[in-house]
Amino acid sequence: MKIKLDSPLDMHLHLRDGDMLKRVAPLSSKSFAGALVMPNLIPPVTDKDMVEDYKTRILEAAGDESFEPYMTLFFKPEYDYDFLKDVKEKILAIKLYPAGITTNSSDGVDNFSVEALAPTLEAMSELGIPLCVHGETNGFVMDREAEFIPIYERLARRFPDLKIIMEHITTKEAVEALMRYENLYATITLHHLYITLDDVAGGLLRPHLFCKPIAKRPEDRMSLRKVAFMAHEKVMFGSDSAPHPRDKKEAPGCAAGVFTAPVALPGLAAIFEEAGVLENLQKFVSDNAQKIYGITPPKKEVILKKEPFEVPESYEDVVPMFSQQTLPWRIESVI
Ligand code: NCD
Ligand code: ZN
Repeated sequence: MKIKLDSPLDMHLHLRDGDMLKRVAPLSSKSFAGALVMPNLIPPVTDKDMVEDYKTRILEAAGDESFEPYMTLFFKPEYDYDFLKDVKEKILAIKLYPAGITTNSSDGVDNFSVEALAPTLEAMSELGIPLCVHGETNGFVMDREAEFIPIYERLARRFPDLKIIMEHITTKEAVEALMRYENLYATITLHHLYITLDDVAGGLLRPHLFCKPIAKRPEDRMSLRKVAFMAHEKVMFGSDSAPHPRDKKEAPGCAAGVFTAPVALPGLAAIFEEAGVLENLQKFVSDNAQKIYGITPPKKEVILKKEPFEVPESYEDVVPMFSQQTLPWRIESVI
């Protein structure tokens, strides 16, 4: 059995910089036609020159003409209309992190009052720049996403013309909120379709499955699967593939992030096939994102074949999800 995917897109990807960028970029550009690249470098990507320079480094590392890095800017409440107008053509979205909530987010937002955010969000709304949000409070770890939902709702109501993307949703509450507002959309990762907290910490601790937001309950996973498997037009694939070197994961203080770039498409094919919805994968990994963001990615045809794929133990010093396991689907060819 085979399936053809046209121009798959990964709408939430961490590519890092330097040697790590060189290591991981080809693993995405090989099978994806484009990716929304997260700006949480050290220091974060906060102006036009940084965006342009980072994009140049990505293209060089990716070495593939049919891969488009869609760039993002790290949200700051001081961005004004003129600044954003100037940078607009170079970015596809702006990513908002609550301060200190995840990897490299210490420069994020700590005041979520509408007044504090309004000038920048109004300008984004007028200029048609979508807002991507890491929606977690600093509350109890399992409740952080659900606690953030009133903030999403406030923003969605106050800025009805602003497209707001709820990044890497993990809860049934998030799925429900998504459906209540026309201008809310969401990305869903591969790992949150597969795992619950049990897989992370229910037996031996699995540091390579530790990420933010933390995987939740079976009923949450069920809600995510439901909207992903039907390829609901408000959801799209965003891997949140977040590589960290082994010594930062297998450590007393484990860095948050699951590395899925090289296993994403086979992993999705496996779980969509198991659910009997392989025909919906095209929408989930490309068509929905094209509509939501209004983009036309480079042409890339990926053929997946139902044949065993033995996932490598590691890619240099980065351990992928499904390390040393066998997935039932593999990438046969890319044109
Ligand atoms: C991401 C990273 O490592 O940059 N980590 C993660 O657990 N997902 C940041 C993020 O998206 O939260
Ligand atoms: Zn992320």
